Amino acid sequence: MPEKTLTITDNRTGQTYTVPIEDGTIRAMDLRQIKTGPEDFGLMTYDPAFMNTASCRSSITYIDGDRGILRYRGYPIEVLAERCTFLEVAYLLLFGELPTATELKHWVHDITHHTMLHEATKKFMEGFRYDSHPMGMFVSTVAALSSVYPEARDVHDPKNRMHQIVRLIGKVPSIAALSYRHNVGFPYVYPDNDLSYTENFMNMLWKMVEPKYVANPVLSRALDILFILHADHEQNCGTNAMRSVGSAQTDPYLSTASAASALAGPLHGGANEEVLKMLDEIGSKDHVPAYIKRVKDGQVKLMGFGHRIYKNYDPRAKIIKWSSEQVFQVTGRNPKLDIALELERIALEDDYFVKRKLYPNVDFYSGIMYQAMGFPPEMFTVLFAIARTAGWLAQWQELVTDPEQKIARPRQIYTGYNEREFVPMEKRAAASVPAR
Ligand code: CMC
Repeated sequence: MPEKTLTITDNRTGQTYTVPIEDGTIRAMDLRQIKTGPEDFGLMTYDPAFMNTASCRSSITYIDGDRGILRYRGYPIEVLAERCTFLEVAYLLLFGELPTATELKHWVHDITHHTMLHEATKKFMEGFRYDSHPMGMFVSTVAALSSVYPEARDVHDPKNRMHQIVRLIGKVPSIAALSYRHNVGFPYVYPDNDLSYTENFMNMLWKMVEPKYVANPVLSRALDILFILHADHEQNCGTNAMRSVGSAQTDPYLSTASAASALAGPLHGGANEEVLKMLDEIGSKDHVPAYIKRVKDGQVKLMGFGHRIYKNYDPRAKIIKWSSEQVFQVTGRNPKLDIALELERIALEDDYFVKRKLYPNVDFYSGIMYQAMGFPPEMFTVLFAIARTAGWLAQWQELVTDPEQKIARPRQIYTGYNEREFVPMEKRAAASVPAR
């Protein structure tokens, strides 16, 4: 019997099957041969939230959740955050290697020269209600780019694919900034090609009447670090949406909009906004024990805590905590930090959190820092989406070029009726369905 196999005995039939184990994994399709008879469809696996199912092979991001390790293309996140710019990391994610000085120069040039939005896109955004949530505007506008660049539908042409990737990474900060300016009622600021990726983003957000926007270098670097930390995170909910939608050969704009929609949820990227709301609700350090009690009683969740993969301190949260110290030296300390630190202190000692291995995640401290930098809470998830666009596109590119991938189409366990007789209108009983 080969060593790397699994032997399964089906106790319904007494039959034994041997399936290969590769990379600590068995193929779900190998279970289909396990049947009780010719009419049987074959054995399936049931995994509602993908708790134990690998959906792809990927060489982009590695996470060891028990040890709190995160690496992009083999490089520890701590090193990348300290030594690289966001665009350098985006290049690494997409091309697999760190760029040389010349490669980086061309890459930055290309991205910088794709930051402008078509005037039609600008007009499209002007149509949103004055108080629209920036994340809703972001998602819709990224999707609308599909109408501006219909050639993006040819997802099999590598040159065309790269063109759309450059466009998307270039344009997401412009869309984000315009979402913000629209929300606060300020006119659109055009990109400034002299500035770095994050400086230009800050320019588009905050330039008023001054002839040239000058970004505070500590704040633009802090934003760059935050973008690096958020750039990719293997098969999270948003990336799974990107891959699932992309598997239908949908263009990258629509696929990215789907991924961003998933990110908007409060259990995912939307958590950073929720953390701030929670800290506002708690109000002061003295109220922390009472709030922790409500969490333990199951009334509320401690937002910014817990993770499907990390059962240890999220390495990104550690870097954000460090980086926020630099930001606070410029902006002044965000008073909410004291509440957050007290929440963390109590939670990390409390049996409820210890037993469940609940630690602060990336969203716990990022919002406090964003707020100190001048971002309103509604913008927090949009910032996450700008950075994650690089990761989504790297994952999409990997998907499109993977010969093993097909349209994503899970199975289900049907729990409804068997075939039954149609009931004419006059014979239907009103009480048979729940009241609406
Ligand atoms: N507060 C209180 N209890 C929690 C929390 C929390 N934040 N997170 C998990 N738990 C409990 C949960 O109730 C369950 O307890 P029990 O075993 O008694 O039923 C146990 O811990 C396991 O949790 P789970 O819900 O099975 O874990 P999951 O892997 O399905 O969910 C999560 C992961 C991130 C959705 C969840 O921890 C959560 O809702 N956290 C708050 C939202 C948040 O901060 N999200 C950002 C995640 S990081 C960035 C990103 O992904 O975008």
